[in-house]
Amino acid sequence: MSEKKKEICTVVSQESIGTDIYSMWLQTEKIAAEAKPGQFVSLYTNDPSKLLPRPISLCEIDKEKGRIHLVYRVTGAGTGTAEFSRLKAGDTVSAIGPLGNGFPLEKAEGKSVFLMGGGIGVPPILELAKAMKCEKKQILAGYRDCHTFLKEEFEAAGTLYISTEDGSVGTKGNVMDAIRENDLKADMIFACGPTPMLRAIKNYAEANGIECYISLEERMACGIGACLACVCKSREKDAHSNVNNKRICKDGPVFLSTEVEI
Ligand code: FES
Repeated sequence: MSEKKKEICTVVSQESIGTDIYSMWLQTEKIAAEAKPGQFVSLYTNDPSKLLPRPISLCEIDKEKGRIHLVYRVTGAGTGTAEFSRLKAGDTVSAIGPLGNGFPLEKAEGKSVFLMGGGIGVPPILELAKAMKCEKKQILAGYRDCHTFLKEEFEAAGTLYISTEDGSVGTKGNVMDAIRENDLKADMIFACGPTPMLRAIKNYAEANGIECYISLEERMACGIGACLACVCKSREKDAHSNVNNKRICKDGPVFLSTEVEI
């Protein structure tokens, strides 16, 4: 279990920004002070039948105001995320965080970089894009449809290439199609999104000898090491258990692509 204590956070604002996608700012000085891009918080519901928290990645970190921005998808009626979406400004919610390792953004200095996000893996790329200092910042954001949430924020942070599954905005297809259509090149990749997308990016990076970091946050459940639902296969053996496993919530969620099998 995590040694971190639960923090009581106050909701600053909450709004719907897409189909089942919500944007919530929380006041939490301690978490905001420690947080870095690619980390997440585990939020607790007030429903006693749901003991395990829900991990949600950090979309933005405002250290000056002591706030964190969460953009998350409601995964169905009666779920923890549906309960979070009903919170209003002034309500409180318990959270543990920041959790996880985050992206090694200092490695990008002087490099030409792809920052790639797909679906609900788009939000964690925003704080990374804002904080990263690199030679060339190419942001590839993949959406289902015309609800291209966070578009203006990404445009302010780098050069944005949008792809949509239905072709309503940008390249029709996914983030890999946007690379091909725009003939883009990079010498380093940071990515977050659904497993098939990350698998395609991992294969592309390894085929082209590109250093690539992927966030496997979509595969987490409790986020605090309690459920073991997040285990993935790793190349190296774990030092404690001597098996080829890693817990995404504890050892990740960010891994060098060559370290893990997905
Ligand atoms: Fe539960 Fe990792 S998500 S142990």
